Amino acid sequence: MRGRFSEDGSTANFGGLNISPAEFRSMDRFMFCACGTALHACMVTEHLIERFARVPVECDYASEFRYRNMPLFSNTLFFVMSQSGETIDTLAAMREAKRKGYKVLAVNNVVGSTIAREADGGIYQHVGPEIGVASTKAFTSQLIIGAMLALYIARMRDMSFSDGVQFVQALKGAPDHVRAVLKQADHIKGIAKRYAKYRDMLFLGRLSLFPIALEGALKLKEISYIHAEGYPAAEMKHGPIALICEDCPALFFVSSGEMFHKVVNSMQEIKARKGKVIAIATESCELPEGLADELITIPECHEAVLPIVATIPVQLLSYYIAVELERDVDKPRNLAKSVTVE
Ligand code: AGP
Repeated sequence: MRGRFSEDGSTANFGGLNISPAEFRSMDRFMFCACGTALHACMVTEHLIERFARVPVECDYASEFRYRNMPLFSNTLFFVMSQSGETIDTLAAMREAKRKGYKVLAVNNVVGSTIAREADGGIYQHVGPEIGVASTKAFTSQLIIGAMLALYIARMRDMSFSDGVQFVQALKGAPDHVRAVLKQADHIKGIAKRYAKYRDMLFLGRLSLFPIALEGALKLKEISYIHAEGYPAAEMKHGPIALICEDCPALFFVSSGEMFHKVVNSMQEIKARKGKVIAIATESCELPEGLADELITIPECHEAVLPIVATIPVQLLSYYIAVELERDVDKPRNLAKSVTVE
């Protein structure tokens, strides 16, 4: 975030977009393509841009976009996200969009990568080299950039100066919230020890926390080899609920606000089928007694910051479960840091 807020503290500034504010403002739609973890960051960004800037956004797997010949609206700005900047499917999706005459901006961590060089402009993540195969700090930095993009676009449209200032303050407060969650590392380690024995796990969340459920499940499978699936919590009753039993715990993201009671209902459906429940809940959530077998409390925070703060406990949980199972956390089997073949 450093150096990327306007002097008046009400919006974000990006140096390398190579597109004028007027051109940016004229866009009617944004399209995001990426793979894996980076796609989950795009999905959170989609939610934030639609919520705060009220501009339609679409996200797609880069591997699908490149072949599905999707009709695009003329005033569409194309984004790709890629930590490495070398992922072949993301690169191919970008080339396809460019061939069709669209401008493509890249969110990328590796200066001078192929995607960075071929994009029309973009935003560097600047989080330093990511050594572990499973993406972690790259993901949280993509979430920050996604939130800043939502702010930037929103302030070009209907977001007021004071709402912008509040948004900026909230983003600046994110590190403190993350620190507060990190202090619970030992508590999360204890949960990991109790749950490392399971072979399946569900991750459930709603709205901007649904992509975090996808990411939590991906992290767990990547480094511990436990089978895990992420779903929007309400989708559970359309099939996955058949899996619920004593041997299949479910992890829920719970936040205060409009979705609270709906998520609690979904948790009760799991409990009724003897499934164990892990809740990652914001501190003002008053969960019915005995509903959660395990509770990780996260700070109450701005909607743009919540996905970041909610990510930390699932990254830690996956890490401690993998350590408990004596997996190679940095170099999990069958995976490569950047996927440069189709
Ligand atoms: C994340 O932990 C993965 N190993 C993987 O999903 C990764 O995010 C994906 O391959 C995209 O990589 P990129 O960000 O370098 O393009």
